[in-house]
Amino acid sequence: MTTSAFPKTMRALCLTAYDGRPESLQVTEMPVPKPAAGQVLVRVAAAPINPSDLMFVRGLYGVKKALPAVPGFEGSGTVVAAGSIAGRLLVGRRVGCVPAPTMDGTWAEYVVVPLGQCIPLLPRISDEQGASFFVNPFSAWALMELARRGKHRALVQSAAASTLGRMLQKLARKEKLTLVNVVRRAEQEEMLRKLGAEHVVNSSEPEFAERLRLICHELGVTLAFDAVAGPMTGQLAGALVDGGTVIVYGGLSEQECRIHPKEFIFHRKKVEGFWLSEFFKGRFGKDQLRALVEVPTLLGKDLETPIRARLPLESAGEALSIAASDMTAGKVLFTPNATKR
Ligand SMILES: NC(=O)c1ccc[n+]([C@@H]2O[C@H](COP(=O)([O-])OP(=O)(O)OC[C@H]3O[C@@H](n4cnc5c(N)ncnc54)[C@H](OP(=O)(O)O)[C@@H]3O)[C@@H](O)[C@H]2O)c1
Repeated sequence: MTTSAFPKTMRALCLTAYDGRPESLQVTEMPVPKPAAGQVLVRVAAAPINPSDLMFVRGLYGVKKALPAVPGFEGSGTVVAAGSIAGRLLVGRRVGCVPAPTMDGTWAEYVVVPLGQCIPLLPRISDEQGASFFVNPFSAWALMELARRGKHRALVQSAAASTLGRMLQKLARKEKLTLVNVVRRAEQEEMLRKLGAEHVVNSSEPEFAERLRLICHELGVTLAFDAVAGPMTGQLAGALVDGGTVIVYGGLSEQECRIHPKEFIFHRKKVEGFWLSEFFKGRFGKDQLRALVEVPTLLGKDLETPIRARLPLESAGEALSIAASDMTAGKVLFTPNATKR
């Protein structure tokens, strides 16, 4: 094993039950994991709390690890050890990293990551931006790729003020695609307009569904990206022109998608799902390679992540509750090594 110096034990946030109670996520002293062949050990600089993490700790996400487990699907840091010759080149480098789904995550001082799931960070990318290099940037890129592939020229998205929604807005502008943005608060409408959005509709206003339908028909919208689910999926489907497709990629409302059957039967609408893990799973074709080349060049620019708080692992309860409220204000990061013992 090639290494630079690191201690034998570390602090990590350990999840003991999928019940969402603060007591079930506690700082625990545990051995620093050893990288096997094809893996590296990363000293974590920053790790975000994403909606997927909030669902994961409550047992509602598409992945469940055997407990106890350390959550955290992505992060950034410095490679301090490699389990094989191939990883040696990365020792001492700053990387963005994604642990394997079955292994412990990034909410810890150290994390073991497959070599192929580390991306060296360009000098202009801060540890904080690098920490969110994967989940949202790659999803935004992949969703835009689906729009491109389907030759869609006009799109609509829900939860448009989210980090991912703002990334989609920038990518759509670059691609010269028309984008209708659905938000749920007046402040979000104002924020998106300041960022240059032309079409913004507020779902909390009266006659929302009809207004959305009119604007989408006027602009010929054929594709919807939905992160909310519940009645929103049906409202988006109803707004599309005949033959349109809704891609559901999030369930922020925590409700089942509700769509009137007439949309399928009489209007030939379709509903599909998107999960980034599936986009990358077991496939390393042209699309994945293009994403790996293109996304890093857009990071910190078109694919920028707003950050609002940095907290130590010891403040997990507070961090999760900030992350779950007023999500538009930006990401909450754990910075496990910022305060030394
Ligand atoms: N399928 C995939 O592979 C994949 C990959 C990446 C992300 N995602 C999903 O993409 C979505 C956005 O992620 P993000 O990290 O960009 O989120 P984020 O930055 O944390 O922002 C979440 C946004 O959603 C809004 N929101 C929350 N609950 C809502 C509800 N019930 N109805 C309408 N709006 C609601 C928030 O508004 P407030 O400020 O008003 O709360 C905020 O603007 C999440 O659902 C996430 O799970 C999926």
